Amino acid sequence: MIPDNIIEEIKARNEISDVISTYVTLRKAGSNMNGLCPFHNEKTPSFTVFTATQSFYCFGCGAAGDAITFIRKIENLEYADAVRALAKRSGIEIPEDADRDRGVRRSRILEMNKEAARFFRSQLMTSGEAKAYFIKRGLTQRVLDRFGLGFAPRGFGLIDHLKKLGYTEEEMITAKLAGKGERGMFPFFRNRVMFPIIDTAGSVIAFGGRVMDNSLPKYLNTPDTPAFSKGRNLFALNYARNHCAEELILCEGYMDVIALHAAGFQNAVATLGTALTQEQARLMKRYTGKVIISYDGDRAGQNAADRASAILTEAGLEVRILRIKDAKDPDEYIKSFGPDAFKRLLKGSETKFDFILSNVLARHDVATSDGKIKAAAELCAEIAKVRSAVEQELYIEKTASVLGVEAASLKSDVKKQVRKRNAEQNSSFEKQMMNKALGIGDKINPDHSGNPRASAAEEAILGIMMLHPERVTDIVSGKIALTEEDFVTGFNRKVFIAVRKLFSEGGRDIGVLGSEFSQAEMGRIYEMQVKREGLESSSDTVFLDNINALKAASVAQETDIEKIIKAKLGQ
Ligand code: UTP
Ligand code: MN
Repeated sequence: MIPDNIIEEIKARNEISDVISTYVTLRKAGSNMNGLCPFHNEKTPSFTVFTATQSFYCFGCGAAGDAITFIRKIENLEYADAVRALAKRSGIEIPEDADRDRGVRRSRILEMNKEAARFFRSQLMTSGEAKAYFIKRGLTQRVLDRFGLGFAPRGFGLIDHLKKLGYTEEEMITAKLAGKGERGMFPFFRNRVMFPIIDTAGSVIAFGGRVMDNSLPKYLNTPDTPAFSKGRNLFALNYARNHCAEELILCEGYMDVIALHAAGFQNAVATLGTALTQEQARLMKRYTGKVIISYDGDRAGQNAADRASAILTEAGLEVRILRIKDAKDPDEYIKSFGPDAFKRLLKGSETKFDFILSNVLARHDVATSDGKIKAAAELCAEIAKVRSAVEQELYIEKTASVLGVEAASLKSDVKKQVRKRNAEQNSSFEKQMMNKALGIGDKINPDHSGNPRASAAEEAILGIMMLHPERVTDIVSGKIALTEEDFVTGFNRKVFIAVRKLFSEGGRDIGVLGSEFSQAEMGRIYEMQVKREGLESSSDTVFLDNINALKAASVAQETDIEKIIKAKLGQ
């Protein structure tokens, strides 16, 4: 736990508009600032930063919060990690003891992993079966050494070994090197060949373990630990980072990466048993400008490649997709056809649009005018999906020259498609907004839809409490009669209890509730505050009116407006 006073200090030294400007271009708008919301797609700015309360709110999608919530949301971090990121940004040191628990555990896990990797390697020397397996798969001693590959035997060797080195059972369980069942401790990896996962600092952060036969699951990976998050690391990036000035090659499997490195392609990396994440894309962006996706040749692999391509493009990377033919994956391809053939594949890798283009051309006979029209329609639909205008332009020109038609007519067709799509999106946005007004599909406060008016009153009360801590004093002293029992919806009740506690203990910054509430919940909490801001809503009467409304609402009927909206939605 990081103490509240340090969190407040960190927030004081991180002006929210400075923090947000790193991600969003902000313009002055009165005493506030606004820009295009980074959390949903929009063309007119509805994302507002309030300098007075050091908070942000998007009138389009409802995203809201303080600087910490913003960092949490945009970088996808845990609360404590977002606080640390801001501390670092402003040069504040978080005192040792605040961070010790986590820090020590993390460094203990890393030491333990290193010992485990050593143990697995030594086991590989003595195990005939595992060594034979790797040799059968074409790995030389040099490659085994370079990747620190090993073997996890069946018995309790690792646990005994780590115990001797002074690690406790609890530490082994936290590191996910061992588990505990009814019959006591057991090693997590048993009878598997082992692939250590090493981060760019050179620490062993996790392991992948493969069976040596056809049994399932084929691979086991270390689950997330305080030292490891599978969505934020890449296999072999520790080596590839020094060989990727031009490009990285992204694979699906550990064995693909190892085969590529062994064949001289030292810029290959792989995800860790899950689909590519945005964090992994951003991580790659730190080291290179271009990524060639080299996934399995089957349908599943190609679908995954399409999704990865979108994520990488979004992160600002140039993307090519490599198509593997006559082999299952890059590993088998290199084994069958050799490194030079793979080099040619790399050279021939296409952009996503080239790929679509060749597919469309294969399906239609563009020598006939009928085929030409159909191909043009399909391609325009694809081009309309591309966000960047420059990219659209390029693809239109390419299509025009391939089909031998006027670029101008293709362009107007693309425009039509874009307009159609925008209209569809707007109507679904409208529907979303209406649902939101009724609280339908409200995941944060599911009780809202059954009790819209009580919930609205609760939100007004909470918003006023957050802006005017003296109201909390009145509640605590009993001058105003309001307890958690008056709250109808579960989430708002929880917020009430937390805000009352925070303010009655002298806290002033609702941002610290982030250690207790999720990032989405914090957004809702800030939304309540922002909605009351600037309204003449702080007077005792308004506050009391809402309390009375809340107490009455539990027995009230549907309002007319609710009926109208419900009818419109057909509910
Ligand atoms: P593949 O099944 O394509 O394996 O899974 P591979 O890497 O080609 O391995 P070999 O050649 O059969 O030995 C690709 C990746 O998906 C993850 C692993 O990271 C693997 O490298 N995976 C696969 C799992 O996490 N669990 C599984 O059960 C299977
Ligand atoms: Mn394979």
